[in-house]
Parts: sequence; structure tokens; C-alpha cells
Amino acid sequence: MSELLINGYGDDLTVNGTRIGDLTPLEHEKIENERGGQNYAPLENVVISKVKDSSTLIARKPDPDDISKYVESEILDGLCCYSAVNQGQLNKTIVDAVIHHLDQEKLPTVPRSIRHKYMSAFLLSATAATGMDRVIPKVAGVESWELSFKICRRWGYEVKGIPEGKGVIVGATGNFHGRSLAAVSFSDDPEAKENFGPFVPGIELVPYNNIDALEYLFEQKGDHIAAFMVEPIQGEAGVIVPDDDYFLKVSRLCKKYNILLSMDEVQTGFGRTGENFAHQLFGVKPDIMGCGKAAGGGILPVSFVAGRDDVLSVLTPGSEGSTFGGYPLASVVGTYAIKVMVDAGLAKNAKIKGEQLMKNLNNIKDQFPDKIKEVRGKGLLTAFEMFNEKRLDGHKVSVGLLDHGVYAKETHHTTVRLAPALTIKTEQINQLSDAVKEVISSL
Ligand SMILES: Cc1ncc(COP(=O)(O)O)c(C=O)c1O
Repeated sequence: MSELLINGYGDDLTVNGTRIGDLTPLEHEKIENERGGQNYAPLENVVISKVKDSSTLIARKPDPDDISKYVESEILDGLCCYSAVNQGQLNKTIVDAVIHHLDQEKLPTVPRSIRHKYMSAFLLSATAATGMDRVIPKVAGVESWELSFKICRRWGYEVKGIPEGKGVIVGATGNFHGRSLAAVSFSDDPEAKENFGPFVPGIELVPYNNIDALEYLFEQKGDHIAAFMVEPIQGEAGVIVPDDDYFLKVSRLCKKYNILLSMDEVQTGFGRTGENFAHQLFGVKPDIMGCGKAAGGGILPVSFVAGRDDVLSVLTPGSEGSTFGGYPLASVVGTYAIKVMVDAGLAKNAKIKGEQLMKNLNNIKDQFPDKIKEVRGKGLLTAFEMFNEKRLDGHKVSVGLLDHGVYAKETHHTTVRLAPALTIKTEQINQLSDAVKEVISSL
């Protein structure tokens, strides 16, 4: 290795003489293009530098008068890291807990093969918050889904009695559960799958929000089906909200055929949809569910699987594990992420502010009925879909919003998702909506 010198903090962070605070947006882009993976296409000409308040970021853009310099401006965070920061950027309660535990409590880092005292705090909090019997910590959101998948398969063989190797897990079209091989095997998005096969077998998809298709599949193959794994509201698909009674019917069907209902609450959990967990909106309780994103308060990746005793108990020592799942810092952050969800009434605020945002978006739709096809959402998980026309390009909307000081991102070309922090203020909701109106009117 050639000489490597790393020093300083923040803008003074310097790697082999390159001071981070000196780099222009173009130079950041060049480094990413030359040294990083090419699996993202970030918005151009903007680099986020820091947090101003719980919903406001400071961004760097090229100086219009001198390309070798940058200027800073405020950006309203309309996406909050795809719902990972429901508690608001740098939530003080969580940050204080992290600093206190690292500095004053001398927090250790130990693996799961030896007990640490913070695991108890996390398990007590997470079982109480979810109303589930057991909780198993993991790290990324996709891991909570992947572990749910494994548990469902094992339950299918060991409890339901599915013949070995014949287990089927059912999913919904348009699903998104992450990027592991099992998750992309589950996906019907060709971009996510191309040349990653062969894929995990034993998967069947039915159209989302179509109870007849599910019932037909259960009738045909119910004996071999271990679980129906589904998002209560499909986030990445463009905030697809099912019929009010869909999940009640799903839950009844699952019981009838002795099939587990497994829900992915990675994006919809932690107050996002106006309830602590979105399944509560529909009056059902899954047998097993996965949480992630805001489970770590935007500070640390924390995820977990929560579920019924008899379902999660199929795991035995050696069958599952994770070095950082529930290690002391993750347990502290996870505990405090739950504390903030409860104490700050995140779900209630999401409901109130969500109604305000939906009202504003519907007003915009009424003003531009030739441009906006539909406004969808629950709580602060919202989206508007435009008609499929060349001029109504979602990426153009994202770029336009950025020019108006708002960060939001299109999904599937014609849909733009708005999912700000659940601590967002009334005037910020109006700022967000005004920016959307300006951009839509300019198309
Ligand atoms: C519903 C759902 N499940 C799983 C994931 C994957 O989470 P992660 O990117 O943390 O692995 C996501 C991410 O967007 C998601 O929306």
C-alpha cells in the first residue's frame, strides 16, 4: 500500500492532502464515478453537507459565477432517507443517548455469544411497542425480511408439516424488500434481477390487493405454502394503498389455510402511516413482521423481526446470527428510537400533518387535472402520480423541486414520493406543497 494519511473532522477531514471541504460538487461526482460502484445515479450538482434542523439539510451546489467554487443553501428534506429518519435528523434524544452511553457509560462492543445488559432494554421496548412475543435484532432492513423468509420456511417444514424442499412463500407483485439474493428472487422488477440468477426457488407472486388471486393460489397450493409475505402499503412501488378490507380478508384466508401472514414494515413502521405500525390501520396483526429504517432513528442501521412465540421459536442456536444485530450500541439506539416514537407521538403527528399534505396535494391535482392523475397515501407516506406523458417526467420534477429547495425523489418515472420527517412543522408542509405546485405548473 502506498502512504495513506487521514486527519481532521468535517470539512477539515483530509485524505492524502485532499481536504473534503475544498471539493466542489463536480469533484465529488468525479471521485464517485471513478472510485465508487455505479449502482446509483444521484441527483446531479448537489452534495449534502450537514443538518440545519430536524427537516432541513445544508447542501452545496456549484457557484454560478465560478465553477471551481460552491455555494451553500438550505434544502427541506422531503424524503428523510426513505423513512429512516422519522424521528427527524439528529434527533436530540437519540444523539444524547448515544453520546452519553459511549462517553459516560463506556459502552462495550461484544458479540451475541456473551450477554450484555442493553439487550434486555431493547427486547423489553421492542416487544412492548410491537405487541409481539419475541424480537430478534438484525442490521439492515433487507435482513429483517430475509430472516422472516427463513423463519417462515422453517415453520412451514417443522410446524405445518410441508414435505421437505417443497415449501412455497407467496409474495405480491410490485414488492420491494431489499437487495439480497432472496429479496431480488422475490421481486418482479427486471432491472433488479438482470443477470443475478439463478434465483431462490419456492416463490410465487400474486397481484397486490387482489384477494381472489390469493384465494385461488391458496386453494391450489395451500398445503405447501408456509407464508404470505407482503408490505402493508407498497412504498417503492409508488405508495400503493390497498383496499380498506384487503388485509382483513388476507388474514382470514391465512388462518383458514394455516399460512403465516408476514408483513414487511421496514418503510411503513415507526409512525410513518399515522399508526405506529401500518398493519394497525387495517385492523390485523401479522404472525411475524420485519422493521428497519427508523428502528435506528436515522443514526444507526437497526432492524428486527418481531413475532409470535411459536413462530420465532423455530430458530435454534447456530441457525441464525449477526455480529452487529443488537450489539450494545444498536440496542441503545433501538431502545431510544422506540422511546422517541412513543414520547414524541410520531404517529399522531404523521396523521395530522399527512392530512394537511394530502389536502394540499389534492388541491394541486384539482388545479392541474391534466397533469396529476392520482394522489395517494396514509399519514406522511404520500405520493402523487402524473399521467404517462413525456413532459411529465418524475426525474424532471425531482430536479425542479431541488431548485425550489426541496429534496424528494421520483419512483417509477411518473410518481413522486413525499415522506418527510414525522416531526415536520405545518409551515414546512406548506413549503413542500408550494414547491410541488410551482414545479408542476412549470411542466
Ligand atoms: C419495504 C422495504 N423492505 C426492505 C427494504 C430494505 O431495507 P434496507 O435498504 O435497509 O436493506 C426497504 C428499503 O427501501 C423497504 O422499503
